[in-house]
Amino acid sequence: MKRILTGDNTTGNLHLGHLVGSIKNRVKYQEQYETFIILADTHALAYPKYLSSDISIGDFTYEVLIDNLSCGLDPEKVYFFNESSVTEIYEIFTIFSMLTTFSRNMRNPTIKQEIIEKSMQDTYSMGFLNFPILMASDILSVNADLVPVGEDQQPMIELARDIVERCNHVFGTEFKFPKEQIGEVARLVGLDGSVKMTKSLGNCIFLNDTSDVVKEKVMKMYTDPNRIRASDPGKVVGNPVFIYHDAFNSNIEEVNNLKNKYLEGKVGDVEVKEKLYLAIEEVLNPIRKRRQFYETLANGKKIQDREVLDKILKRGNEKVREEASKTLKYLKSKIKLLD
Ligand code: TRP
Repeated sequence: MKRILTGDNTTGNLHLGHLVGSIKNRVKYQEQYETFIILADTHALAYPKYLSSDISIGDFTYEVLIDNLSCGLDPEKVYFFNESSVTEIYEIFTIFSMLTTFSRNMRNPTIKQEIIEKSMQDTYSMGFLNFPILMASDILSVNADLVPVGEDQQPMIELARDIVERCNHVFGTEFKFPKEQIGEVARLVGLDGSVKMTKSLGNCIFLNDTSDVVKEKVMKMYTDPNRIRASDPGKVVGNPVFIYHDAFNSNIEEVNNLKNKYLEGKVGDVEVKEKLYLAIEEVLNPIRKRRQFYETLANGKKIQDREVLDKILKRGNEKVREEASKTLKYLKSKIKLLD
């Protein structure tokens, strides 16, 4: 059976951008592929801001696990694991870092973009720069065929392929070339219309947002800035509200109708947003329902079923440790490192 490896940094809850960029594909392919979902807690350390948050990386690991499960991934099929518990990945990483030049690493547009976006200047860590190599190690530790990710992660998969090529060429390994699978919406714009939905810009609808919060966020969304009255003809292309309708509203007739009316100045922003809110609720409701299986609310406090979650992690951690240790052994033998 072919394999998938993908996952998320455990720096916060997942949002609609993750859903359309990667998670939908995870759910779609889980029957066809042996699927490994990484809770990338070591990666999370590259963002020092989260180290000083009230919530620990460990707590976020459970949050991200629940987010994934609530989207419909089957914990009896899919292997969930946290990166830090598979230390073989670190050893594979060390070897791969020796095969990657600094200049090759710095040609990564996502890394460059993040440095600018997060105003990191020269405060980023070595681990941050090495991040793509660590991702390649995650992927190759189980020799994955397919990596469902959002568009911004594509350069990382490209690097993983470069590492495979180099390793196969220099040491005669037979690693497979992993392929990215980009979601139907490659990059979802933020609520504020900026290029992407991302925690760091605070422009997200989270999968665990309550109905009230979703409503508030949708009603505040950016639309066509040049449209003042509902009777003004509006722009649909590039308008975040319609981009979201296209992404989340399954009633295509309603969307087309709203678009036509908007272009002619026959519908107000409020109505378009109210319909969008209902469409997003339809997407989130089944997710909320599944969430209740792992997490309940008592007196406004969240109680996670850690016993169930730990069992899920244990199963995945054991499996990936076994696979990664095989990979490491194989790699060392091909390099002819002494055991
Ligand atoms: N870095 C990815 C992100 O920011 C998460 C991740 C870590 C990942 N390791 C991976 C994704 C391996 C795919 C494959 O979302």
